[in-house]
Amino acid sequence: MKTVVIATNNAHKAQEIAEALPFPGWEFKTLREVGVVSDPVEDAPTFLGNARIKANAAFEACGGNAVIADDSGLEVDALNGAPGVHSARYAGEPCDDEANNKKLLDELAGVCDAQRTARFVCTLVLIQEDGTEVTARGTIEGKIGYEERGEHGFGYDPLFYPDVLEGKSFAEVPDAEKNAISHRGCALRALKASLEKADLLR
Ligand code: IMP
Repeated sequence: MKTVVIATNNAHKAQEIAEALPFPGWEFKTLREVGVVSDPVEDAPTFLGNARIKANAAFEACGGNAVIADDSGLEVDALNGAPGVHSARYAGEPCDDEANNKKLLDELAGVCDAQRTARFVCTLVLIQEDGTEVTARGTIEGKIGYEERGEHGFGYDPLFYPDVLEGKSFAEVPDAEKNAISHRGCALRALKASLEKADLLR
């Protein structure tokens, strides 16, 4: 059995990653499950850079096990791509979804419909046992609304209205429906396809 350590302690994220990569002989564990603490400073200017920092730190700490890490966030065009890599702590420390959403609405006050375009981005970095890296990226386009709607999801979901949902926010659809179109779901499907295509399922 091959163990892939997921560089997160977020149980929902870990479950989504494990379910999206259902390869025979692969089992997934979180850092906590393998008894490893890894909390590197994520100070890269890009999502890929930060996912790489997390993956490399976990790879070192896990003594040669395969590892997978992700980094994600929201890019708003009218704010020149902010909050971007600072999505989690947009309104400052500690990480507070409600404060982040309020700040986002404040920053976009007076910005018209057509200019409220935004996207969620997710990058994934898998490091195999021999140090080989496989990366994938997924995005979903949408707009930032004027009010929070919906009870599902987390983070900016209540303010993000994906183009494909035609008027519903991400937080208004159940997890399974969100995962089928989300940036993370997209990146995971791209990673799965790359691994299959390159015959990397060792
Ligand atoms: P991380 O990749 O878990 O570090 O996520 C960074 C931040 O981006 C989160 O704290 C959220 O604020 C935001 N974010 C990432 N993905 C999503 C999503 O699917 N919905 C809502 N917010 C998200």
